[in-house]
Amino acid sequence: MALLETEGLTKDFGGLRAVHDLALRVEEGEIVGLIGPNGSGKTTVFNLITGLYRATEGRIRFDHGRRELVGLAPHVVTGLGIARTFQNQRLFSHMTVLENVLVGMHCRTRAGIATILLSTPGSRRERRRAEARAAELLGLFGDRLLPRAARPAWTLSYANRRRLEIVRALATEPRLLLLDEPAAGMNPTETRELMRDIERVRDRGVTILLIEHDMGVVRVICERVVALDHGTKIAEGRFEEVRQNPAVLEAYLGRRAGRA
Ligand SMILES: Nc1ncnc2c1ncn2[C@@H]1O[C@H](COP(=O)(O)OP(=O)(O)OP(=O)(O)O)[C@@H](O)[C@H]1O
Ligand SMILES: [Mg+2]
Repeated sequence: MALLETEGLTKDFGGLRAVHDLALRVEEGEIVGLIGPNGSGKTTVFNLITGLYRATEGRIRFDHGRRELVGLAPHVVTGLGIARTFQNQRLFSHMTVLENVLVGMHCRTRAGIATILLSTPGSRRERRRAEARAAELLGLFGDRLLPRAARPAWTLSYANRRRLEIVRALATEPRLLLLDEPAAGMNPTETRELMRDIERVRDRGVTILLIEHDMGVVRVICERVVALDHGTKIAEGRFEEVRQNPAVLEAYLGRRAGRA
């Protein structure tokens, strides 16, 4: 079995079926793109995988079939090795850049986050270790974040805040990282840099499932793409195949024509 595999995954919100009978597979080491028009169910899939929502039906198997995720609480899913970023930023703006990473890390440290932040005598060594590890992770983005480690997160530029969200997710030491529109709001230069960063994260051994509207990003970095429309998988394969798929063209064009 693959690292992550869903089977018959379905989510209803009242009368609305947001995800319908979805079979999704992510192999270890892949970067898989999850695409689809607005409201097609992409973020809901992330919320189901991470335990924020409970599936109405179906299964979500992680770790090559060893773990069933349906019914698990979010922190348990994180502990099993799945981390995510959100479509809307959720940093602790008044904490420093470094502290935001330490918060992400607390599920892997013995002392709780309160002890680490308050720095009681017993936790000092652990805090030093955690800080060294946080600095190493911040260094993944070159000199974008590390020189700003002591500043409050709200002082960062938009692109740096998005980078920090990725670092915070990585601090939980995931095997699978779910990125929800990481390039949204970035300029072309920032987007190019982000693509290299995502590939670098994958090269460190982290498998990536990526929701992205920027097809330039999907084309370059995703080995495989899954397209959703109205919660249903309408195409799957290499980007060049998927983007020429009539159902995919129809989903995007139809939706845009509907809006006009
Ligand atoms: N908590 C919720 N309660 C009710 N309906 C919801 C909830 N979350 C999502 N939905 C609905 O489910 C459908 C899928 O939403 P979702 O956010 O997963 O789409 P998406 O593909 O991520 O869209 P976008 O590209 O705009 O982010 C939408 O119709 C949305 O309104
Ligand atoms: Mg979304």
